[in-house]
Amino acid sequence: MIEDLLEKINKCSIEATSDETRIQQKEQNEQYFTPISIASFMSSMFKEVRKNEINILDPGCGTGNLSAAFIAMVCDWKRKPKVINLELFEIDETLSEKLNKNLSELQKLCGDNGITLNFTTRYEDFIIAGLNKVNECNDLFDYIILNPPYRKLYSESNHKRILMECGIDVPNYYAAFLAISYRLLKAKGQLVVILPRSFCSGTYFKSFREDLITQTKIDRIHIFKSRKDLFYDEVLQETIILSLQKKVQKLNDTILITESLKDDFTETKRTHKRFDNVIFPLDSKKIIRIIHTPDKMIVDQMHSLPCTLSKLGISVSTGPIVDFREKPESLRFEYNLWSFPMIYQENFRQGKIEWPIESEKPGLIVEDDKNYKRLRPSGIYVLVKRMTTKEERKRIVAAVFNNKEYSDQKVGFDNKINYYHIAQGGIDDLNLAKGLCLYLNSSLVDFYFRTFSGSTQVNVADLKAIKYPYKEDLIQIGRLFTELPPQEEIDKIIDNYDFKKAI
Ligand SMILES: C[S@@+](CC[C@H](N)C(=O)[O-])C[C@H]1O[C@@H](n2cnc3c(N)ncnc32)[C@H](O)[C@@H]1O
Repeated sequence: MIEDLLEKINKCSIEATSDETRIQQKEQNEQYFTPISIASFMSSMFKEVRKNEINILDPGCGTGNLSAAFIAMVCDWKRKPKVINLELFEIDETLSEKLNKNLSELQKLCGDNGITLNFTTRYEDFIIAGLNKVNECNDLFDYIILNPPYRKLYSESNHKRILMECGIDVPNYYAAFLAISYRLLKAKGQLVVILPRSFCSGTYFKSFREDLITQTKIDRIHIFKSRKDLFYDEVLQETIILSLQKKVQKLNDTILITESLKDDFTETKRTHKRFDNVIFPLDSKKIIRIIHTPDKMIVDQMHSLPCTLSKLGISVSTGPIVDFREKPESLRFEYNLWSFPMIYQENFRQGKIEWPIESEKPGLIVEDDKNYKRLRPSGIYVLVKRMTTKEERKRIVAAVFNNKEYSDQKVGFDNKINYYHIAQGGIDDLNLAKGLCLYLNSSLVDFYFRTFSGSTQVNVADLKAIKYPYKEDLIQIGRLFTELPPQEEIDKIIDNYDFKKAI
């Protein structure tokens, strides 16, 4: 009977999202409702408390799937509460009919289990109303369950201003919803949230990560191994579930890290990790590294390398040519005396750049009065793809580009690649470029990248966050090969090479 009710509520949320007349509300408010299977999985992370009365908060509740799944679970507890007070926030009042119907059904279910369910639905903006609640500091909650909206918070916006006034410095809605919510927990209160993994790294989220770990204790992190995205097919971003408690976090607390290999949660990998093995105490960026125990050795190996990129005297930037912003006549298929090579992701071939190639994209660029500042001088560069596909085995794919082989003048780099350079010119030493390319293509670097990024996009900041060997070691490695060897060989070279440590 409980299953039937949850199935009905699930269907109701699917109807609400597929309703053509609601497209505007759906897009504007990011109404991607949590499937009941996931909502139930999230609810299973809450621990039972022995209380006669419990208060639950559901911010951005949609049609109420999360509350429904959790309350159904409470109805199954050994020692049930006598009263549940549920408070829900939703900006879109057009959902009220469906939401009220679902809540009435839940009230019946609770009644059948000897529980009185009192609910209050507030059709208000949670950022404003939630912050008011934080300031009033009353009506705190035992349980909070949420799947927040994701959109960016603009720095000039009223939302950003009122958040900052409360000391909450966050770059988007999901972090704002979460930071407000955990401030509304009672001592030892519990919160479960589903959100993108992007906050685990990235400079924009640094204050948020610091806030999160000072306000709460992380009990569990669940990652979805399958990249078939749960809600957002178009977003190549991993989704995670966090389970938090309003308690003081200690360095020796353990965090349960689970991983479901399929979307039905049947095959889960479980590891317990100390908090200080997830967020390293000396890491000023407080990156949340979701890694399994044996992987710690690899992280240590990477951290023992001596150089930052700036110490090597090398920089990395994103290709400055955005093809659709160029004058159409500047990008060409046919060679003329004034055209230079134009390089895209498509030109990558096993550690090298092949040019020209047969492609739908114009392989030549002609300098004009606008783009001349965006062209780079002829030289040797190491290029890294910015986007990899879900299917590609590795996130970091690097290649050496020796422009001198093609043109002694200039080159255009497309915006979907990153390029390593010295003061916007080439890296003058071919062996240094080859060594850097081999190092970047190693599984060590790829693995390290995955410990802090769940995205298929490789940003310049990510490449700057990696440690590098000394220049002499990179040159030495570069001397070892002519053509980039197969992966196994690359990893053997990196694993067996005796890199000098920092002095
Ligand atoms: C990602 S959906 C999740 C809905 C529901 N929690 C679930 O899991 O099925 C986010 C919900 O937040 C609502 N929302 C968006 N902005 C809001 C705001 N500022 N205040 C309150 N609710 C908001 C949207 O209308 C939408 O229903």
